[in-house]
Amino acid sequence: MKDLFGKALLDYQNGNYTEDIITSTSISDEDVLSLPYLFRSFSEMPKLEQKALQLSKGKVLDIGCGAGNHSLYLQEKGVKVKSIDVSKGAIEVCKQRGLKNVFVLDITNETETFDTILMLMNGSGFFKNLDKTPEVLQHLKSLLKPNGQILIDSSDIKYMYEDDDGGYWVNANANYYGELEYHISYKGESESFPWMYIDFENLKSACKKVGLKCELVLEGEHFDYLARIISFEPRLQ
Ligand SMILES: C[S@@+](CC[C@H](N)C(=O)[O-])C[C@H]1O[C@@H](n2cnc3c(N)ncnc32)[C@H](O)[C@@H]1O
Repeated sequence: MKDLFGKALLDYQNGNYTEDIITSTSISDEDVLSLPYLFRSFSEMPKLEQKALQLSKGKVLDIGCGAGNHSLYLQEKGVKVKSIDVSKGAIEVCKQRGLKNVFVLDITNETETFDTILMLMNGSGFFKNLDKTPEVLQHLKSLLKPNGQILIDSSDIKYMYEDDDGGYWVNANANYYGELEYHISYKGESESFPWMYIDFENLKSACKKVGLKCELVLEGEHFDYLARIISFEPRLQ
């Protein structure tokens, strides 16, 4: 892993911001991922993220924390938060910004338990594909304290397959339409990885398979949504 995301965050943090990250996917052309956006304050966050932070309670795990915006907000409010990311650069930035409890860690290797698990800025990317989603959810379930919750945002990207005449060109025999190959380039280097957006109904049914209940909290302005996932079975304290 070249950790281009981490390199870009470190550059911004250290005053070396000269260009943004360029993204593209297997189904879409180039787009700009602005570095300042990756350092957003609470008031600059989308409503879905603000709502997730308002609903956060108890001991919180921020998965894929990036530059640590959500964790910093919670830490400043006195909430106990652990922040993890696979990107070494991102975690270095979080430390420089004053986050206290941060680690380079893949979600699959987390073992502590939490009252709230945050997966923000399309948290379904960690599932990688639809088939693997129940397995990752099962792991996340094992990290939940009694009455714990997972707060995740994602989008139904079916609109990206819309024709000019309003029809859809989704191939029913292909993989799930939310599964993409995601490319990023930054300062002359590039890397790719699998990434998935999941619509609410598919997330709900994957949750059901592993005894989790998924409810819609809020819908965004462009097919995006915030969901809250909790355990079916109340566990003993
Ligand atoms: C879209 S960014 C979101 C960053 C941050 N949450 C935000 O909203 O600004 C996704 C982050 O997840 C991290 N990530 C990807 N896969 C991960 C995994 N398996 N475990 C932990 N972090 C992961 C990436 O390194 C990246 O920092």
